[in-house]
Parts: sequence; structure tokens; C-alpha cells
Amino acid sequence: MNLEKPSGKLGILIPGLGAVGTTFIAGVYAINKGISKPIGSLTQMGRIRLGKRTQLNKPFIKDVVGIQPLKDIAFGGWDVFDDNVYESAMHAEVLDKNLLHELKPELEAIKPMKAVFDKSYAKRLNGTHIKDGKNKMELAEALMEDIRNFKEKHNCERLVMVWCGSTEIYIEEGEVHQTIERLEEGLRQNHKDIPPSMIYTYAAVKMGIPYANGAPNLSCDVPAIVELAKQTKTPIVGKDFKTGQTLMKTILAPGLKCRALGINGWFSTNILGNRDGEVLDDPDNFKTKEVSKLGVLEDILEPELYPDLYKDLYHKVRINYYPPRGDNKEGWDNIDIFGWLNYPMQIKIDFLCKDSILAAPLVLDLALFLDLAKRAGMSGIQEWLSFYLKSPQAPKGVKPIHDIFKQQIKLENTIRYIAGEELITHLGQDY
Ligand SMILES: NC(=O)c1ccc[n+]([C@@H]2O[C@H](COP(=O)([O-])OP(=O)(O)OC[C@H]3O[C@@H](n4cnc5c(N)ncnc54)[C@H](O)[C@@H]3O)[C@@H](O)[C@H]2O)c1
Repeated sequence: MNLEKPSGKLGILIPGLGAVGTTFIAGVYAINKGISKPIGSLTQMGRIRLGKRTQLNKPFIKDVVGIQPLKDIAFGGWDVFDDNVYESAMHAEVLDKNLLHELKPELEAIKPMKAVFDKSYAKRLNGTHIKDGKNKMELAEALMEDIRNFKEKHNCERLVMVWCGSTEIYIEEGEVHQTIERLEEGLRQNHKDIPPSMIYTYAAVKMGIPYANGAPNLSCDVPAIVELAKQTKTPIVGKDFKTGQTLMKTILAPGLKCRALGINGWFSTNILGNRDGEVLDDPDNFKTKEVSKLGVLEDILEPELYPDLYKDLYHKVRINYYPPRGDNKEGWDNIDIFGWLNYPMQIKIDFLCKDSILAAPLVLDLALFLDLAKRAGMSGIQEWLSFYLKSPQAPKGVKPIHDIFKQQIKLENTIRYIAGEELITHLGQDY
């Protein structure tokens, strides 16, 4: 494989400079200053086994494939509020104020560009830092102009875009999403099934900029964008960062299944008080998140193949907006399982997590791995990055893989493939 080296500066563009976006950016500056380590990031801390087990060779992933150095990154983004990254991070109250003071000059310098936004897709947001345009195509062109200006101003060699904006109202794939021509006509005609997030996606993919979708919005998960990605040789991946409760689900469910234990109920509830929680408090926006969260168990457990174990599974997911908790989400799971002779048992999980702390390293890894994919000449849906996503995008006719351990195997073997190393099949004595 002809892999280009990560030379020059990489620009990471972020639509949505809220809790996740600012925690990510501030984190990279803190790491560059030696204040902290990049905990939770595989591109920075992960190792990979190469060759046979007996060779004891486990180098860092970043040394095997060449990952963009954190010191050579420029950050940019858009938001419906005009707060700079320092102000927005202070508002989000995720990171310690003393840390943010220390990073103030760098963070203050990043000011959001005017957003492409329409309140009817996120009713609880009242921002005014918004672009005007005759139609959605004109708005897409304005984004492309922003991108060109950013690239020139920051002297970037390459760019990637990671959507960290809000979850929009639920939209199903329709006619307008089927081909590039129909999507472009829809942009000119202001079609209602093209939400703001898809306008950013179109702009990025049209320009050949790798794109990751951190929210459950349709975004790049439609045939027209997949086709455009092939045409412009662009890697894309979505959707919805796999962080708290769903991360736990995709760790635990494969474990129970592989031991042939039955499950007849999985009740998941969350309280969350950040802006994301406020947006999700609207039923139309919650529906988008619910669909993304519900698919996971069905795909892992395959009740159609294991009816005795999973056919009666009752799966419920709730998210409740509860301001006092801010970004400190609490997620409870009650799992009703059964074992030998149908004897019932229960598992309880109480995950006191920090949503944006879990999501920030995912933004970094998705950005750097997408840049790697682009340098390796890969394009279209990057299924090997499903590892990071709650509702992974899969090619038409194929079910997504949710099991985190299968996702890990796929990710590691793809890295070996890019590096020109032997794939590991776990067969034979030496393995
Ligand atoms: N934190 C997690 O663990 C996690 C996990 C999975 C998915 N997500 C998703 O990531 C996204 C970001 O989460 P967050 O906690 O940072 O939310 P947030 O509300 O703090 O930040 C989102 C930001 O996006 C901005 N925005 C909304 N629409 C926009 C548009 N059209 N253009 C530009 N900016 C826009 C909002 O003004 C806001 O500042 C959400 O969609 C959330 O559902 C987060």
C-alpha cells in the first residue's frame, strides 16, 4: 500500500464547538503542554501486536502507521453561538477552570465561524451566529469558502471534519438522499429532509475532506453521500460517538452471549444536565438518539438465530434532562438474565460518567485515523472505525457490527493491512 507520510499541518474542523468539541481542543493543548496524558486515545497510547505471539512485538500504533503529531494540528469550527472556545468551554463546565485559565490564549484565539443552522431541526437552540443564504446549496458553498479560507490562513496540508454539533430531529432516508443529483437538486430547492448537518457533510465530502459524524443524525449515512465519497475519494464514517451506556452495552452483551446466557430485559435510563441533554429533551430530537441506541442489542444478540435465549428481550432506553448534573451523566442499567434451567438473575450497572471526557479522545482518534485512511488512499465507509460509534454505518445489505471485540479485531487488522504487516487470524500454534 502506498501510504503518504503525515507531513505538514493537519486542520481539524468541527461543526459544533460545545462541550465535546471544546473538551477535545483544550485537551490537545493540555497534552501538548505536558499537563496531561492522552488517556482514552488509541492513536496516542495504544499498542498493536505484530507477527507471531512468540516474537513479543507490540509497538505503538502511531509508530507502525505514522499518525499526525499533535503539535502540528490547527483547529477550526462553526457554532450558532459566537463564544470563542475558551468561553464555550467555561460555559460547558466540563474542565477545571484553572486548567482553562492556563490554556486561555490558545483557546480564545479559536472563534467559531457562522453556522449553517435552522431552528426547526433543533428547537431548543437559540443561537444567532448564523449564515444567510438563498438556498441550502448557497449555504454549502459558503461553508466551502470558509474551509478554503481556513486552510490558507492556517497553512494546512490536509483537513478532516468531525461533527460535534447537536442531535437534530429524526429524519428518515428518503428520495432526496438516493443519488448525488437528487441531493444537489434538493439543496437548491431547500428540501426539508436535508438538515443543516447534511449541508456540512456535503460541503466536506464534495471537497474530498474526510468526514466523521459524532451525532446520530443521518448525515453521511445516505446513498448520495456514499456515492459522492467514492467519486471524490473521501473516507467517511458515522454515526454517534459510542461513549457511556452503549459502550458498556457493547462490552457486556457479547460476553453474556458468548456464554449462551439468556436475557429477557434490559432497561437503561440516564440523567444528564448539559446542553446536549437539553436538546434531547425535545421528543423529536430524542427519537433520533433512541433509534441509534436501540439497534445495538438486537444486532449483537441475533434473537432470530437464538430464540431460546433472546426472543423475549424487552429493551428500553430513557434519557432525562436533569440540569443539576451538568455533563456528569448517571446511567443505570438493569439487566434481567437467566441461566441453567431458566433460573433468573439480575445485573445492575450504575455508571457515573463524564460524557465529554469519554467523547473527546474519540474525536481525536476519528480525526487522525480518517486522515490515515485518506493518506492510504482508502475511501467510502470506513467500517474499521465502527469501534468508536454507537450506530455504525455499514454498506447496503450488510448489518453493522456492534460487538466491541469484533470491532477491535477489524480495527487492528486494518492497521496491520495499512502497515503492510501480516493479518492475525488467531489460527495455528504460534498464534
Ligand atoms: N458526549 C458524549 O458522550 C456524546 C456521545 C455520543 C454522541 N454525542 C453527540 O455529540 C454532539 C455534541 O455533544 P455535546 O455534549 O458537545 O453537545 P453541546 O450541546 O454542548 O454542543 C453542541 C454544539 O453544537 C452547536 N450546534 C448545533 N447545531 C449546529 C449547527 N448546525 N452548526 C454549528 N453548530 C451547531 C450548538 O450550538 C452547541 O454549541 C451531540 O449531538 C451529542 O448527542 C455526544
